[in-house]
Amino acid sequence: MRLIEGKKIAADIRAEIKEETERRRAEGKTIPGLVVILVGDDPASHTYVRGKGKACEEIGYVSKIETRPASITQEELLDLVNAYNNDDAYHGILVQMPLPDHIDEKTVIHAIDPRKDVDGFHPINVGNLMIGDDALAPCTPSGIQELLARYEIPTKGKHLVVVGRSNIVGKPTAALMVQKKERANAIVTVAHSAAEDLAAITRTADILVAAIGRAEFVTADMVKEGAVVIDVGMNRVEDASKKRGYRLTGDVDFENVSEKASFITPVPGGVGPMTIAMLMSNTMKACKQICGE
Ligand code: GUN
Repeated sequence: MRLIEGKKIAADIRAEIKEETERRRAEGKTIPGLVVILVGDDPASHTYVRGKGKACEEIGYVSKIETRPASITQEELLDLVNAYNNDDAYHGILVQMPLPDHIDEKTVIHAIDPRKDVDGFHPINVGNLMIGDDALAPCTPSGIQELLARYEIPTKGKHLVVVGRSNIVGKPTAALMVQKKERANAIVTVAHSAAEDLAAITRTADILVAAIGRAEFVTADMVKEGAVVIDVGMNRVEDASKKRGYRLTGDVDFENVSEKASFITPVPGGVGPMTIAMLMSNTMKACKQICGE
């Protein structure tokens, strides 16, 4: 078994982007800008957003974190998004999800200029990804693709099974990996909780992507010998022995599955850091496209 070191690959990508940003500065080109909008006080969201802000700082992007109380109205939030749609210093706008119940996430996503939609959640980007046109693709699926590519894991003709059908991970991972392109061209199955025999499906996977959101859901009997296992899960499990009262665990029973897998991502330190690295990459891409480069 080989460990897929997402943390290390993400650091490499961030260093590459930092170098590119420094080059742009030296050449007098526009520096990419990212604004992250954080509503309310969900502790996990605060942690994620801090990570995104730190990455921007380290790379040298223009960046801002706009925090708003959970009491913000939808109209006020839409006005804030719109202000950044019209602000040339910012090429990426990310509204951290989830949003409070009185705000319709879809309406907010639709309000973001698709050219600045670095999450790749706007229907324009989702549609372009689906038909194989150039798009800002969602960060976690792009991170998975990048990990497979950097570990030179073949995908062409391989059976990739993604468990989970979310709009953030499951569906876009399938859309990305089924493309008739380099680094993709997989035979893709989207499996989910309604499967009559989920293990029978997952056992046929050459590459198994677990994006269910349930701690240690994927057990060794669900995995083929030699499969590549990508764990997207980030679950907080109560653990009194930890100072913060919980430990982070993936959607995969790492201890047992790692004995069967040829490659496997750890949690933490696997897919998670890649999501931020790809956000930085999308912000660079958006900046260049907006600047007409
Ligand atoms: N919440 C959890 N993951 C994500 C993400 O990738 N983007 C946004 N905007 N919110 C999230």
